[in-house]
Amino acid sequence: MLNGEQITIALSKGRILDDTLPLLEFAGITPAEDISKSRKLIFDTNHDNVRLVVLRASDVPTYVRFGAADLGVAGKDVLLENGSEGLYEPLDLDIARCRLMTAAKVGAPRPEGGRVRVATKFVTLAKQFYASRGIQADIIKLYGGMELAPLLNLADEIVDIVDTGNTLKANGLEARELICHVSSRLIANSAAMKMKQAAMQALIARLGEAVQNRK
Ligand code: ADP
Ligand code: PRP
Ligand code: MG
Repeated sequence: MLNGEQITIALSKGRILDDTLPLLEFAGITPAEDISKSRKLIFDTNHDNVRLVVLRASDVPTYVRFGAADLGVAGKDVLLENGSEGLYEPLDLDIARCRLMTAAKVGAPRPEGGRVRVATKFVTLAKQFYASRGIQADIIKLYGGMELAPLLNLADEIVDIVDTGNTLKANGLEARELICHVSSRLIANSAAMKMKQAAMQALIARLGEAVQNRK
């Protein structure tokens, strides 16, 4: 049913992978070996023409944009931060749901008059957000553990993912403004959508059914 066209699907390591595998399974695609127990990066599946590659979450859109992978799974936060040029977004997979928020030390007032120092890995989204509020912000790029920045006075605020709020709470921080809701999306290379139409459409339809089945 998926026919002969070779399809490469880029998956993110970590929490997205755990939530994506059951969807793929429902869509009839199973990796040939246990991905979590392997150091390999490319995995065959039960379909000769479908393979999976496992990447850093923030690299998935790049592989799909350049056509190195035909399909991918990426957080909306990553897509908004890096831009969606050359990408289709055929499905909201409704997994890895969370919010992108600003946060600061509990009760700490936003510095008045001066500029707000904001630590984040979402530099573009943070710039847009503070500009949209007319707030002058100096953005400090970090790669993880943003919650530490206000505690060591590297920044006044952070822009980061919040799910349960446990990480903020454990570090004496509180969420302030909601920037956007986030979930993971199926993304597709626009050229592959045309060149490999039959297999791509079949896979997207099956994954759509898998998402509906979970609801
Ligand atoms: P990274 O190493 O890039 O942080 P993660 O696996 O932590 O990779 O996050 C991948 C994606 O999962 C993010 O882009 C975001 O969409 C979502 N996400 C991140 N943190 C959480 C969380 N705590 N709860 C739910 N979803 C999250
Ligand atoms: C993510 C995010 C927050 C935390 C939010 O970090 O950056 O720190 O989860 O989740 P919570 O509200 O449920 O506590 P992650 O665990 O992915 O660590 P990272 O810094 O390595 O990305
Ligand atoms: Mg993370």
